[in-house]
Amino acid sequence: MTEHKVTPWDVEGKVDYDKLISQFGVKYITDEQKAYLQELAKAKGLEEHVFLKRGLFFAQMDLDKIISAHKKGESIFLYTGRAPGGEMHTGHLIPFMFTKFLQDLFDCNLYVQIPDDEKFLFKKDLTMDTISSMVDTDLKQIAGIGFNPDKTFIFRNSQFIQKMYPLVLETAKRITFSQARNTFGFENDSNVGKIFYPTLQIVPTFFEKGFCLIPCAIDQNPYFLLQRDFAQKMGYEKNCTILSKFLTALTGPEGKMSASNPDKAILLTDEPNKVKKKINKHAFSGGRGTIEEHRELGGDCAIDVSYQWLYNIFEKDDSRIEEIKSLYSSGEMLSGEIKKILIEKVNELLVSHRENVSSAFENGLLDKYMHSGKLAKEMWAKNYFE
Ligand code: TRP
Repeated sequence: MTEHKVTPWDVEGKVDYDKLISQFGVKYITDEQKAYLQELAKAKGLEEHVFLKRGLFFAQMDLDKIISAHKKGESIFLYTGRAPGGEMHTGHLIPFMFTKFLQDLFDCNLYVQIPDDEKFLFKKDLTMDTISSMVDTDLKQIAGIGFNPDKTFIFRNSQFIQKMYPLVLETAKRITFSQARNTFGFENDSNVGKIFYPTLQIVPTFFEKGFCLIPCAIDQNPYFLLQRDFAQKMGYEKNCTILSKFLTALTGPEGKMSASNPDKAILLTDEPNKVKKKINKHAFSGGRGTIEEHRELGGDCAIDVSYQWLYNIFEKDDSRIEEIKSLYSSGEMLSGEIKKILIEKVNELLVSHRENVSSAFENGLLDKYMHSGKLAKEMWAKNYFE
């Protein structure tokens, strides 16, 4: 088996999550922590979240601090982000959907960073113009998630930089070149923009004095580990994270789903028929070579992508997922049948997401998140030197 390689920019090989936990200096989410969040959900009249229940969100850094702050009524805020990519796929929705759940739980402010600068510095061939149009595409999708318009601020780094700059300087002064190199593996021929960029991803953890919780995929954790070295010296709290695994690629358990191979990922814009074709053609199957063999040996849920996706994301109902597992692994359910179940679920999500995207557009939600909502207005009016 190939060794995995996980950095904030690349995921290669089959990821060994136990190993990652120790490599990244984070911990598993405990049963007590899960129970606290799920109880809170119940108290708010929300369903317990399938991503938490089934372990797609599986690791954390100091989640206890957030829980104890919440118990004491101290201030908490959320922060996440997405580098522009243009074509978002289902995997990209995961952190945002979970972030919305957390915002509903804590009823708190949320900052969403769009690091157009990161993309520009790390991708040799991209111009700021191209990136800018990718950002526009992504923002429309993100606006459809349904964040609280008065408590959410979405910003592009290149536009908000003037307001952030004082905090950028405070932060940059506290990160040495060797720390950045050790954390991110920069080389002598890395452009200096890349070396500076970690500052920008850390800064929003200082947008408020309270406790910052960052829901994201585990590959992003190195930034936030670094923040903890100096946050308190700057007069802020150490940040906390709640971390997800990567969504298994449609084509199998190696690496994460990538929009750069559009046949192999389900894009948010894929129409129902396309979803059906892609899943039928590309979803890696744990089924057997022939029907006879399948009936005899049963399907292998541990490697079957349709089963994995249903388990981790799409089938919330515990008894139904159990039933699917037993039917499929006993051979009673065929590969084409489990795919059919997945196709319906994926389309349900995508159709409703697209409706949300268009109603967000009609209601001018994006403008609220970026400029005219309560939090957005406050952020643009801010002067960090005051
Ligand atoms: N670097 C992230 C990406 O490549 C984007 C990002 C910026 C982010 N700030 C963040 C992700 C905070 C999670 C949390 O997509």
